[in-house]
Amino acid sequence: MNILILGGTGSIGTAVIRELVRHGHSVTGLSRSESSDAALTALGARPLRSDLRHPGTWVRAIARCDGLIQIAATFGPDMGEADSLTVNAILRQAGLRPDPLRMIYTGGCWLYGATGPRVADETSLMRPISPFVWMKDNAARILACPSVSAAVIHPAMVYHQEGGVFSRYLEAARRAAPIEIWGSIATRWPLVQRDDLARAYRLLLETPALTGHFNASAEHGVPVGDITAEIARRHRHDAGYVVRSLKHVLNKYGDWAEGPTLDQQMASHRLRSLTGWHPRHRDFRKAQF
Ligand SMILES: NC(=O)c1ccc[n+]([C@@H]2O[C@H](COP(=O)([O-])OP(=O)(O)OC[C@H]3O[C@@H](n4cnc5c(N)ncnc54)[C@H](OP(=O)(O)O)[C@@H]3O)[C@@H](O)[C@H]2O)c1
Repeated sequence: MNILILGGTGSIGTAVIRELVRHGHSVTGLSRSESSDAALTALGARPLRSDLRHPGTWVRAIARCDGLIQIAATFGPDMGEADSLTVNAILRQAGLRPDPLRMIYTGGCWLYGATGPRVADETSLMRPISPFVWMKDNAARILACPSVSAAVIHPAMVYHQEGGVFSRYLEAARRAAPIEIWGSIATRWPLVQRDDLARAYRLLLETPALTGHFNASAEHGVPVGDITAEIARRHRHDAGYVVRSLKHVLNKYGDWAEGPTLDQQMASHRLRSLTGWHPRHRDFRKAQF
């Protein structure tokens, strides 16, 4: 398939490109710098120089592609606005195609809010934290659009060889500094390893008949305390930590910081049963990071 990917140089996107190229797909990636051009080329993709926020410069590439993956995120104050602009442009352009556009849109586990003792699956009510309400709305618009055949993938917290969501803890452990815990040490995070997640993107992309929401988690809910204990063990850290309140992290880092404080459990029944997805990394303690 000819695939256009937005966000192909990011943490998740690089693994998705690697997975797609390995399976024979031809990939074009949006790039906004020379270094991203080089990164995409090294991954085996063709760079398309443009910026997410100027869809007029890249959206026509949709006419030539068989599938589109949206994983780009600005992570600034304009994150929702940039995504909405992107989605509007994609849906408009898709309407000009003779056939529906296969599209994979990226949501996230934070759209389910805190689940506590419940395990969220794809049928669960979404209660996104306030800075991500736009993501739920954009996913709904995409799924309702007849010009696209869309799957929305909700990654759990993503870790990988270089750290991913563990990075903050790893940096503290390497500096022999106390590990900063946001909220509570008992908070649970659903986890997925990046290469497993990339396989989920490919499996969904290759099966246009599969539409709707798909969660991607390999471990339903791992207490943050278990993660920091494992990191402390690997780095001979004394396992000392300091707990920061929700109020403190919201003030210091912004409202997105509520995400890591959510006590969440998330399962991937639909992804597993409909695509045969089977994560290879089912215990983060056995993974490299
Ligand atoms: N990581 C997780 O644990 C996780 C879990 C659940 C959901 N998600 C969701 O997954 C998405 C991607 O996350 P990530 O961790 O992969 O993020 P990331 O590593 O920060 O990657 C963001 C990507 O977006 C691109 N981008 C940013 N602003 C752009 C612009 N103005 N024009 C074009 N490209 C732009 C970046 O390109 P440059 O290389 O040019 O900066 C990069 O490729 C987000 O929506 C996030 O909420 C992530």
